[in-house]
Amino acid sequence: MDITLPQGEEKTQLVRSMFDSIAPRYEFVNKLMTFGLDARWRRRAVADLFLPPRCVVLDIAAGTGDFTRELTKQGHLAVATDLSYGMLHAGRKMPERVQADASQLPFRSGSFDGVTCGYALRNFTDLQGTFNEMARVLRPGGRLSILEVAEPERGLLRTGFRIWFRHIVPFIGSLVSDRKAYHYLPKSTAYLPSRDVLLQMLLDAGFTSVNHRKVMGGLSQQFIATRAS
Ligand SMILES: C[S@@+](CC[C@H](N)C(=O)[O-])C[C@H]1O[C@@H](n2cnc3c(N)ncnc32)[C@H](O)[C@@H]1O
Repeated sequence: MDITLPQGEEKTQLVRSMFDSIAPRYEFVNKLMTFGLDARWRRRAVADLFLPPRCVVLDIAAGTGDFTRELTKQGHLAVATDLSYGMLHAGRKMPERVQADASQLPFRSGSFDGVTCGYALRNFTDLQGTFNEMARVLRPGGRLSILEVAEPERGLLRTGFRIWFRHIVPFIGSLVSDRKAYHYLPKSTAYLPSRDVLLQMLLDAGFTSVNHRKVMGGLSQQFIATRAS
């Protein structure tokens, strides 16, 4: 299926309408795609904030709230924000929900102890602007934890991943949800800068102690950072 990858406002509008349309079945397809392994990755990503309970944490691009609920489970006061009303609306047991573009967050500077963001970087139109906003809304010393898709670097895991992500996921997505959206998904990884570029962008935004780790042999990746004082 031929999918062009738009830029600028056109990308923002496409992403918003695509997530609005897949929202009702998003979690179901997500679990199929990750075999439910993402629950463990999210648990670890929230624990890696190293924040005591009852901290105020903003989940950016929260979608239907998988990360948001994990924050609540680990004792934090979570706020969910997302571009797509449909995604926020489809979420279960969600705390505060705010529809907003992550590159223009409607929150005061320094108002959060932590920020999480799951599987959304490649969807942002203004990635540097979004990292700047993550840094702005965090208090000095506040913590950031990001999960993102990745591709294993070599071997059987890479071959298996490619077949799964590029062919089987779009096929399953077409059967149970929106065909165009699930063909866009593997293509959207072309928007994702390399690990080194992402690390530099986080430093430029005002983060220190910026770390990266591969999750499960590189099937996913995590960035952890601290807002500079
Ligand atoms: C793949 S989903 C991930 C949802 C959720 N974080 C998770 O881990 O399941 C990506 C989310 O990013 C949101 N998104 C895309 N562009 C955005 C933007 N500019 N600002 C805020 N959210 C955005 C989409 O609406 C969608 O809910």
